[in-house]
Amino acid sequence: MERLQKILSQAGVASRRASEQLMREGRVTVNGATIRELGTKADPASDDIRVDGRRIALPERYRYLLLNKPRGYVTTRSDPQRRPTVIDLLVGIREYVYPVGRLDFDTEGLLILTNDGELAARLTHPRHGVARVYEAEVLGVPDAHDLDRLARGVTVEGYRMTATQVHLLPGRRDRHATVQITIQEGRNRQVRNMLEAIGHPVEHLRRVAIGPIRDMRLKPGRWRDLTEAEVTSLRKMSLQTPRTLHRGGDPRHNAGPHRSHAAPRGRHGSGVRTRSK
Ligand code: URA
Repeated sequence: MERLQKILSQAGVASRRASEQLMREGRVTVNGATIRELGTKADPASDDIRVDGRRIALPERYRYLLLNKPRGYVTTRSDPQRRPTVIDLLVGIREYVYPVGRLDFDTEGLLILTNDGELAARLTHPRHGVARVYEAEVLGVPDAHDLDRLARGVTVEGYRMTATQVHLLPGRRDRHATVQITIQEGRNRQVRNMLEAIGHPVEHLRRVAIGPIRDMRLKPGRWRDLTEAEVTSLRKMSLQTPRTLHRGGDPRHNAGPHRSHAAPRGRHGSGVRTRSK
């Protein structure tokens, strides 16, 4: 017997936390009875467990996909507004994979999808803080002071958000510039909100790395399976020591003043800021 939310995540229905939400919403039944109680146990081998009326099955094998999400797609399995979803792009995939984390409708870039609920839960858990790298085309040209503010942390809606690395990429620097920013938390619209907070709203946003995973050659709209080595490195990263969360206004969650310094001038030789951890 296992807890229902664990069974659901192992079956690739959703992460454990998302499975709990499904239960709260009354969408999970065991042998015909709706189960909202989070501690409830069931036996996946003998019980008839359903989500939205559809019987779950433990997956025969795990799939780990890397998709280059184009703009104009929702990161969900199904959208009540019937907009195109990332699942629409996975032609030929029969496993019940779901997105690990979220990219906004208008954000493009790398997105992992899997039916491995355990790994998905660890990767998205804020305590593990897997680094995600974004390239943001912004309005105006941030100066060294602006970049430093991002590395030190800005407070948006009560939450302190920091960039672990931030620098300006070479290229156009007239009315726009491209900022490369690395974050480890995953708050809703975090990069957009952080850049807005320093007065440089985002016009285009693209995720170029998730932890060790990068792929410059994967075209928007295309996907591939992650290699075994990639899955292993993601697994290792997801098991790293939990990090401290920073929440404005609550000193128990505050790790003290953030040290920041200019990193040695890198390949692009411009305004790199990093935050020491
Ligand atoms: N931050 C954002 O603002 N949007 C995304 O899609 C991802 C991170």
